[in-house]
Amino acid sequence: MKIRSIDEVDLKGKQVLIRVDFNVPLDEQGNIADDTRIRSVLSTLNHALDEGAKVIIASHLGRPKGQRVEKYSLAPCARRLSRLLSKEVRLAPDCVGPEVEEMVQKMKPGDVLLLENLRFHKAETDNDAEFARALARLADVYINDGFAVAHRVNASVVAVTSFVKECCAGFLMKKELQAFSQVLENPGRPLVAILGGGKVADKVGAVSHLVDKADKVILGGAIAYTFLRAQGIDTGTSLVEGGLIPQAQQILQKAREKRVKLYLPVDCVVAQEKSPKAQTLLRPIQEIPDGWMALDIGPASVTLFSEVLENARTIVWNGPMGVYEMDPFSRGTFGLLRKVASSYAFTVLGGGDLDVAVHRTGEAYNISYISTGGGAFVALLEGNTLPAIKALMACEKGEA
Ligand code: 3PG
Repeated sequence: MKIRSIDEVDLKGKQVLIRVDFNVPLDEQGNIADDTRIRSVLSTLNHALDEGAKVIIASHLGRPKGQRVEKYSLAPCARRLSRLLSKEVRLAPDCVGPEVEEMVQKMKPGDVLLLENLRFHKAETDNDAEFARALARLADVYINDGFAVAHRVNASVVAVTSFVKECCAGFLMKKELQAFSQVLENPGRPLVAILGGGKVADKVGAVSHLVDKADKVILGGAIAYTFLRAQGIDTGTSLVEGGLIPQAQQILQKAREKRVKLYLPVDCVVAQEKSPKAQTLLRPIQEIPDGWMALDIGPASVTLFSEVLENARTIVWNGPMGVYEMDPFSRGTFGLLRKVASSYAFTVLGGGDLDVAVHRTGEAYNISYISTGGGAFVALLEGNTLPAIKALMACEKGEA
């Protein structure tokens, strides 16, 4: 079912509550280290402003667990947004309550108010109805443009849609979903999926779904070692999720039955500790020494994976091939990124690590689409309908 888009809704003079994801990385001094997530919703915010709306923005930052934690205040985001919009952005002292309601009442069309961190209230992550009702009181129209948080059943993402008069999706949300449908619903083939990084438990479902959808699947990074162990390969002290080995075996079996090629690293860079100063060795994958762990894929794996990508018409990739932040373990990720960037395929990358890595290579402009989502990106790769999307659909049908 189609979700209503921001440009199909009359916003003139209305109080518009826009849920965004300003969960941006902060450096040790509390400065914004990367403002991509703020920049990526500017078209939605500017559209609402141009239409004469009173723009009320809601976001979380970090995981303050229901407490007011100053380092997670959205104050730096208010300052950055003010610069990006070239206009005043006021920061409310909270996200709900009489003081905030009074601030909203005083707003004029074209004003921008950023609510303080939603997660200063536990009710947000509890998807609490009363909290959602309090948020909805601020709005005539609710717009969800927070793709990166669309997989969370939180009050400002899901419950709020039951209490507002009108709901729709912002431009970023639409763009993200479009890129995904181009990858998973109607891809140019061959479709090659690449999965790496850690959080194996969160990603194993995605591997299984991709075996159903893709023509070829490449596994690198920490997730690969659980699959290598499932094939009986000794992986030394590499990160392996023992409890997931049976599931990995079932996925390997499914791939064989479906004749979907699942590629694993054939060599790796190993060390005894995860440190940029550690002594490293290059080893074939079957020869990881006792007490050593694989922290990157090796050059033969980069060559193999690059050959797999050669004739791809669609490539989707989440998670790095190794500990790319440390120089000795970065070559696998950067090598494969260069290959993907030089491909003529439609290429979609997701997850914070890959976003940082691809910008470091200077190749970001050669990628068709870089998603702002991490967990949300993986949830889509798993074949799930995101809770935010279900909520917007229910709102559209008047069921929310
Ligand atoms: C993210 O960065 O993936 C989103 O902002 C969601 O954050 P969370 O994992 O803390 O819910």
